[in-house]
Amino acid sequence: MQQIVKRAKIIGTGSYVPDTIYTNEYLESFLDTNADWIFNTLGIKERRIADKDEATSDLAWKAGERAIDDAGLTKDDIDLIIVATATPDRLAPSTACIVQDKLKAYNAVAFDIAAVCSGFLFAMSIATQYIGSGIYQNVLVIGADTFSKIIDWKRRDAVFFGDGAGAAVVSHANVNEGFLAYRLYSDGRGKNNFTIPAGGSEMPCSLETLNNRLHYFQMNGREVFKTGIHVLPKAINRVLSDTGLKVNEIDFMVPHQPSIGILKKTAEIIGLPFERVMTNMDRFANTSGGTIPILLDELKKSKRLKKDDIILFAAVGSGWTYGAAIIKWV
Ligand SMILES: CC(C)(COP(=O)(O)OP(=O)(O)OC[C@H]1O[C@@H](n2cnc3c(N)ncnc32)[C@H](O)[C@@H]1OP(=O)(O)O)[C@@H](O)C(=O)NCCC(=O)NCCS
Repeated sequence: MQQIVKRAKIIGTGSYVPDTIYTNEYLESFLDTNADWIFNTLGIKERRIADKDEATSDLAWKAGERAIDDAGLTKDDIDLIIVATATPDRLAPSTACIVQDKLKAYNAVAFDIAAVCSGFLFAMSIATQYIGSGIYQNVLVIGADTFSKIIDWKRRDAVFFGDGAGAAVVSHANVNEGFLAYRLYSDGRGKNNFTIPAGGSEMPCSLETLNNRLHYFQMNGREVFKTGIHVLPKAINRVLSDTGLKVNEIDFMVPHQPSIGILKKTAEIIGLPFERVMTNMDRFANTSGGTIPILLDELKKSKRLKKDDIILFAAVGSGWTYGAAIIKWV
């Protein structure tokens, strides 16, 4: 089904990353890995790591507050807060409720969504539906993750991730500006390729799961790579055909940041010059739900964005979940 969305645009962005930096060289000092390999293969030099007492909501509310300021609004103007995260503060309540309390944005409804690395894109699509239907005026969408808390620091998968949060305020737009198209997909057959086996209702935490380190995140890197380079071009080509835009009309691609290899291969398959693909994985690694909004905030603050620029979002994540969206910047 074609998913053309009208009358929603981003009016403010914000981001927040913790101060502590773990370089590749530092990881090399205690993990079976190699600093040059990480940079050459994944495009990562360093990542930010949350403090012991810093939860996902702490990153999220700071990014959210900056986005509200950037939009020229106050916390009381926010009708809905959606937090996309795979590393919630607690299983209950939602991180969005904790963020609402930290922001003191008590006029807002608040809930989380779970689509891991595609989370921000999925949350954005929900925001645009509420705006398009006229139910809410201003929606704060936050992508925030602290993978450092669920990484097994004894496995070399740890090198991929960093902590960070990004946010956007979505509001009304005229027809033919803002969000032009979405395509979202899920495929639960991929559920074991990027997962945290224990700690939920399927395998509650026990001494045995702790001893077997099953409460930590695990990834099948080869499957992620194979899937990523297949599904990202598929989703992107669908939103291009939905909008009638050609790939050379894309001014900026603002993608999730899995690895430089996946992004280069995707750009090559769709025929987009890599200079138009935005990356910040060198400084922040993969911040999961945070990647796209942090990158968008950096792009906006860099003053490179002009009215009517066409931006392509694309993401792939655990589930599998994946998708793409196109916006005309206003
Ligand atoms: C991780 C990845 C590079 C591994 O490559 P692969 O060919 O599938 O798997 P292999 O295990 O055979 O590894 C290839 C080489 O990389 C090395 N390697 C893999 N992971 C490594 C790590 N973390 N640190 C250092 N070296 C590593 C292996 O030792 C091997 O070296 P060799 O050729 O000298 O034996 C690749 O699968 C990938 O990029 N996956 C995408 C993962 C991703 O994007 N995750 C983000 C989730 S959204």
